[in-house]
Amino acid sequence: MAIEVRTETANPDNKARSFGENIESDLAPKFIRVVENAAVACARTMGRGERELSDKVATESMRMTMDSIPMRGTIVIGEGERDEAPMLYIGEKLGAEFRDGTEVPEVDIAVDPLEGTNLCATGAAGSITVLAASEAGGLLHAPDCYMEKIVVGPSCKGAVDLDAPVAENLLNIAKQLERNVQDLVVVVLDRPRHKQLIDDIRAAGARIRLISDGDLSAGIAAAVIGTGVHAVMGSGGAPEGVITAAAVRCLNGYMLGRLVINKPELEERIARMGIRDKNKVYRAEDLAPGNQIIFAATGVTDGALLKGVRFFGEGTRTSSIVLTLMTGKVRFIESIHLAKKADVKVRFA
Ligand code: FBP
Repeated sequence: MAIEVRTETANPDNKARSFGENIESDLAPKFIRVVENAAVACARTMGRGERELSDKVATESMRMTMDSIPMRGTIVIGEGERDEAPMLYIGEKLGAEFRDGTEVPEVDIAVDPLEGTNLCATGAAGSITVLAASEAGGLLHAPDCYMEKIVVGPSCKGAVDLDAPVAENLLNIAKQLERNVQDLVVVVLDRPRHKQLIDDIRAAGARIRLISDGDLSAGIAAAVIGTGVHAVMGSGGAPEGVITAAAVRCLNGYMLGRLVINKPELEERIARMGIRDKNKVYRAEDLAPGNQIIFAATGVTDGALLKGVRFFGEGTRTSSIVLTLMTGKVRFIESIHLAKKADVKVRFA
């Protein structure tokens, strides 16, 4: 555990509260640095075709920045179990203490250091660095398996059901959005396992955007009006599902998820994790039940919501989104990280 020299006052807003009582206000600005730094690090590897390298630099950067944050952090969703991941493994403790002994908050953290590793490695759109954090116990410890998911925006709360026919869900979404099914755009991961789903969406008349990777950023886009994405359907990673749920809660969207437990070893794993009902349908509130939630992501390559990292002579520019639940903030942050040059200039756009 690193030692942090306290540079801020305990009560910057002059209210009688101690550091970390409001995790969101105290830690969100620090988590922005985590995703920004990781995005800059792995963006340097964009298009090199080396997915492991891209993931490694993002992971190393995230870990290093996170270890300087005043908190007692525990990775609850990370790069895997301790024996398979050298860093950001599930259960890893991270964070710094204040030199003056001021208490630091306990925080559970879910990370996907580079969501869309292949996208970054091939220079394709939609890769992000991303994390979610909450008070201890505020994020489901999901196993590394698939999760069936539906993500929709705030107007479609309660309008979809994982067990309903696809056509019925689409009709309900269309009604809520006051448009025709033909006007909807549904994002689906382009996988053979989704053949039936894709056929059903096409038969119902909705439009489809097939993506090669990245159902997490697609989920965020579905929860934000004006992105041109009205729903995400299909199965993707369960860990990504928990992080998506954290964003969906902050954005007041609606999400349903169900673990895909199709192997005996997964049955054993969820039993060890204390999950009794393998068919449980989780809402965003079950996947990310915390009272205080921070979600932070930075674009690595250009995407629907976030621009990718841009390098220029004078520095680097990043686009991030930072969401908090209790304090109700949605922040789009454009940062220019200036190179240390005597004649450095800042450009507006
Ligand atoms: P990575 O970030 O590990 O590259 O995952 C990308 C992703 O496409 C996720 O967005 C998605 O949830 C998952 O992989 C789907 O898994 P699979 O490629 O096995 O269908």
